Amino acid sequence: MPDVRQTDHNSRVIRLSDYRAPDFLIDSVELVFDLGEEDTRVTAHLAIRRNPEALDRPAGLRLEGEALRLLSVALDGESLGENRYRVSDDALIVDGVGEAFTLDVVTLIRPQDNTELSGLYKSGGNFCTQCEAEGFRRITYFLDRPDVMTRFTTTIRAEAKRYPVLLSNGNPVAGGEDPDGRHWARWVDPHPKPSYLFALVAGDLTAVRDEFITRSGRTVSLAIWVRRGDEDKCGHAMASLKNAMAWDERVFGLEYDLDVFNIVAVSDFNMGAMENKGLNIFNTKYVLAKPETATDADYQGIESVIGHEYFHNWTGDRVTCRDWFQLSLKEGLTVFRDQQFSADQGSPAVKRISDVRTLRARQFPEDFGPLAHPVRPESYIEINNFYTATVYEKGAEVVRMIHTLLGPDKFRKGMDLYFARHDNQAVTIEDFVSAMQDAGGVDLSRFKRWYSQAGTPEVTVSERYHPESRRYEMTFRQQTAPSPGQPVKDPFVLPIAIGLLSPEGREMPIRLDGEEAEGRPGTRVLTMTGMEQTFRFIDVAEPPTPSLFRGFSAPVKVKGVPLDRLKFLAAHDGDPFARWEAGQQAATRHLLDLVHAWRRGEALTADPDLLDASRRTLAGGDADPAFAALALGLPAESALADEMAVVDVEAIHAARQFLRGEIGRALGTELAATYERLTDKGSYRPTPAAIGARALRNASLSYLSATGTAEAKALLVAQAETAGNMTDTLAALGLLGDVEGPERAAVFQDFYERWQHDDLVIDKWFALQAVSSLPETLERCRSLLAHPAFDLRNPNRVRSLIGAFSQGNQLRFHEAGGAGYAFLAEQIIAIDPLNATMAARLTQPLGAWKRQDAARQSLMRLALERILAVAGLSKGTFEMASKSLQ
Ligand code: PHE
Ligand code: ZN
Repeated sequence: MPDVRQTDHNSRVIRLSDYRAPDFLIDSVELVFDLGEEDTRVTAHLAIRRNPEALDRPAGLRLEGEALRLLSVALDGESLGENRYRVSDDALIVDGVGEAFTLDVVTLIRPQDNTELSGLYKSGGNFCTQCEAEGFRRITYFLDRPDVMTRFTTTIRAEAKRYPVLLSNGNPVAGGEDPDGRHWARWVDPHPKPSYLFALVAGDLTAVRDEFITRSGRTVSLAIWVRRGDEDKCGHAMASLKNAMAWDERVFGLEYDLDVFNIVAVSDFNMGAMENKGLNIFNTKYVLAKPETATDADYQGIESVIGHEYFHNWTGDRVTCRDWFQLSLKEGLTVFRDQQFSADQGSPAVKRISDVRTLRARQFPEDFGPLAHPVRPESYIEINNFYTATVYEKGAEVVRMIHTLLGPDKFRKGMDLYFARHDNQAVTIEDFVSAMQDAGGVDLSRFKRWYSQAGTPEVTVSERYHPESRRYEMTFRQQTAPSPGQPVKDPFVLPIAIGLLSPEGREMPIRLDGEEAEGRPGTRVLTMTGMEQTFRFIDVAEPPTPSLFRGFSAPVKVKGVPLDRLKFLAAHDGDPFARWEAGQQAATRHLLDLVHAWRRGEALTADPDLLDASRRTLAGGDADPAFAALALGLPAESALADEMAVVDVEAIHAARQFLRGEIGRALGTELAATYERLTDKGSYRPTPAAIGARALRNASLSYLSATGTAEAKALLVAQAETAGNMTDTLAALGLLGDVEGPERAAVFQDFYERWQHDDLVIDKWFALQAVSSLPETLERCRSLLAHPAFDLRNPNRVRSLIGAFSQGNQLRFHEAGGAGYAFLAEQIIAIDPLNATMAARLTQPLGAWKRQDAARQSLMRLALERILAVAGLSKGTFEMASKSLQ
């Protein structure tokens, strides 16, 4: 039975169609923070006027506020009696205001009790803020919406000894000592910005400094602020920042626009990082790295998140979102920019493959499940629930398709036009697409369906070759399953990057019927606009093998490509993405056959073609080790689950383990030789070449360990104990986590003792135990909850134990009795009163019940109902759990 509170949540749905411009604007705000151990006092002086675009509205002034204690309100300098204003749970309403006026509001808050990590809170003894999306209203009463852009002046007062460093947005302008051991600093941000970009930090931090000289010759002081003792872990973040600044100048002509750029690393953070103007606040995970403590993946993560937040300075801060439905305007575009940046720092093909893997692992399931939503959603209860893979990663794919349709030059012109039109404005996705359309000279009106329709299109192809006329025809069909609220879909516009291969694997010239010019060999982009469309090629000398959606030119699923064709493409396709893709598709088919054989109780046999292909990949591995490592990898268990009408987690695990073992046995000699040959003799470097070599070496180790021999086990233990960098240590430890026997416990114990003082390393220690395939894993997770290093209030810990188990261990999470679901539900219920954003986000795996068998379906639904039965459940968790049941 939903209680009153929950009916209430349902009645507060926010809709895009209800958008209206704000009644008032806030031109400037002067904030004074008196930071204290008990109460923190916030004084806000606001210059407000009626919005000329909303003149005829009645409107008393309504400011949002949450968890605030109001001390006083003054209008135009005159203190207001309590009959002149009203305060509720979520607002301050002042009646009888004029055209333009000032408002002084004083409030008290308690950052030390703020476990939501939204608004002003404490982390590691320091004060910090997180205001996106609606955290500023937890600091003071405000028009806390992105289309209200304000000039901020911020004064911070605090005890000098405990909080020697006082930071906010913009540039520092003044500071000094107070008599009572306190001090103060004032910051002015010259750029108008929405309140979600406000930030403040006060603490005992130390800076790693550098500088960057912009293309026009201005010097920018760069600082990364960390806890004392972490200074030696900032080098990679700083190098990444400088690379990102140079890249944005070179590729987009965009320069940084303040004299200082500060980054602060905090260990309690709900997300990865935040692009506050001039003062980015980061989860330590995306700043701190040295070879002994961080893996290659961590290094790559730091580069891309540092890039991402920096790139937001233009795509997000200078041009921001009109409302939160436009979130992908800044996030999809900025993910696209950070992906391009990272691709340019290393191997574009390898980067593309890993981005597509992320999209498939995280976004495709969203599109298929009950929480499916378009890149631009139409309604929400809690906006924090929409920081999703669809808004971010699929949003980036949509921008990439525009890039593909326009080509790089016109795309750049479109970006220039977007900034020329909208600098210092809060705009819509529509505005972005219009700029692209106008600069590109193309009609993107149908293309825009990518923003409004949810779902992953499925594409099938049929073809005919006519030897007499040397003509070749391909007919594409697309189909997209219904999603919540969208029973029928219009066709998506699909850029199809295509190549035609001759029987020998050469690129054939491509010429469409009706074209004047001779065909040219190589990749060609076709544009599909209908549900069904035929393309006719001429001068085709031999029956071609088509290579489709090269570079993953559209986020679709291609169905029904014959297996022999996949094998041919895996061996010959000149496009590295398509070559990898074909190999993965072929392996998926084979693994699904093994799954079915296992279910029927039949003996399993490995496909000799797959073993041969793996052998060839390994033999040619030195040419591009990173690519070889990806090509040798088998599709994840979750990817196989995605291909089954009814998932069987045990069968998937068994089939995949069987095939890994077979590859390990068949290629034992070659794998051992590769492992030896790629042993790193020099010191650790996070270069693409060195990262690639480690990836291929650890892929070899993985297959060797799958044979289960004593020798292989010894190799794992040796690498876990003696490796000189965290990448190799963790690779071995992860494999050892799946191995029964006494070695495992001992190595994990040693690891804990060695690293117990490094939070980020201990996160890895928790996560590795949570993803173990061993039967006792759930029990171990339960006991780890009580481990002294575990803390339900710390999001990184929650993600590394509860998140890793429920999202990274399908075998144990979906255990037949439902114990995994019950575990997750209990944790969500425990976290919800502390940090509703985190609790809501953890709910996602329980929504994936549709493809489970009937027994599991009802157990998953039961877990969701248990969550919904909690009195006083947050609206965010309510939204996730109730929508998941649909
Ligand atoms: N805007 C941040 C980013 O993607 C993410 C974020 C959202 C951080 C909400 C904190 C809270 O760069
Ligand atoms: Zn972002």
